[in-house]
Amino acid sequence: MQRTLVLLKPDCVQRRLMGAIIKRFEDKGLNIVAMKMMRVTPELSQQHYAEHVERHFYASLEEFITSAPVVAMAIEGLEVITVVRDMLGATSGLKAASGTIRGDFSSSKQMNLVHASDSEASATRELDLYFREEELCGYDPVATAFVRACDE
Ligand code: CMP
Repeated sequence: MQRTLVLLKPDCVQRRLMGAIIKRFEDKGLNIVAMKMMRVTPELSQQHYAEHVERHFYASLEEFITSAPVVAMAIEGLEVITVVRDMLGATSGLKAASGTIRGDFSSSKQMNLVHASDSEASATRELDLYFREEELCGYDPVATAFVRACDE
């Protein structure tokens, strides 16, 4: 079982797409174990996107990610890091396949609606940036018996 950090970015909040996108994760059978609306500060943006701080698009990315609230979620499931990344599609909404979240709702590289951790190391680091341990509310969904076999 893995956990990953998912952020519904300011474009998702402003475009009233939060419900539609959360529904996709729930429909897939994934468990949301923490969720909060918050503002990303410039400091948090620099920590979160540390690997991009020197890139040409970083100033614009920071302006965007701090421009309106985000919704941070911790999502749990089998192979959830890969599963969620596949559900998002390619970084650019112009390149993302139809049927993926970005492919269906985004036409931009920057305003691509949702961020998700890309590895176990990133998930651990990013969950720690957005949530305290006591904010993670693990539980056993009663539907699990009808979502996957007990030996999966
Ligand atoms: P995300 O998955 O959150 O990871 C880094 C973010 O930087 C990415 O989604 C986009 O929002 C943004 N990004 C990546 N490449 C570019 C680019 N070439 N121009 C502008 N923004 C970008």
